[in-house]
Amino acid sequence: MLATDINPAWLDPRGTYEVRRHDLAADPPPEPGTFDLVHARLVLVHVPDRARALATMVAALRPGGWLLVEDADTELQPLVCLEETGPAQQRANRLRRAFRELMTHRGADLRYGRTLPRTLREAGLVDVAAAGSFPVGGTVCDRLEIATIRHVRAELVAARLTDDAEIDAHLAAVAAGEFDLTLAPLISAWGRRPDR
Ligand SMILES: C[S@@+](CC[C@H](N)C(=O)[O-])C[C@H]1O[C@@H](n2cnc3c(N)ncnc32)[C@H](O)[C@@H]1O
Repeated sequence: MLATDINPAWLDPRGTYEVRRHDLAADPPPEPGTFDLVHARLVLVHVPDRARALATMVAALRPGGWLLVEDADTELQPLVCLEETGPAQQRANRLRRAFRELMTHRGADLRYGRTLPRTLREAGLVDVAAAGSFPVGGTVCDRLEIATIRHVRAELVAARLTDDAEIDAHLAAVAAGEFDLTLAPLISAWGRRPDR
């Protein structure tokens, strides 16, 4: 098993898999035509040359091998709080809008998820199917929201999309368990490279 990333710092080098630095949009596929399964989650949405990245993954498959690609479609459901019951929920959704604006400026396609079945067919895969889902509430959503906002905090403030006081108030409310947060809908699409 091989795990790749353009920045493998988060991958455990002592895991039961090989870790390799690999740029999906610039490097040739590792061991082309050999993999039974190639999986990428929440990667393509961040890569400007998505077509090339997808072609690289398809080229890594053996004939008959499966590709599973999972990406968000935040335009399908853009809120982080489905119920805006008060100012804290409105603030949370305002920050989510600011985050989406930042992602758009970075070149992310916030409607990419919905394109996956068509994109996989156009890449030559067969037996293509897809499904979408998102959780509502729970500590996993809270933890991810806190990590995400901390990660982009400096960029949000520098872009004047929010300020430190608003971010601090939001992080405190999330940590206090005041919300039923949601994540962006995740579209999972899979398809098979045709047999020879
Ligand atoms: C949102 S994280 C998703 C991480 C993991 N796949 C998951 O689902 O938890 C996006 C990952 O894509 C990686 N990435 C971004 N551009 C890439 C590229 N051109 N080639 C390979 N990996 C890339 C980033 O380094 C980051 O680890």
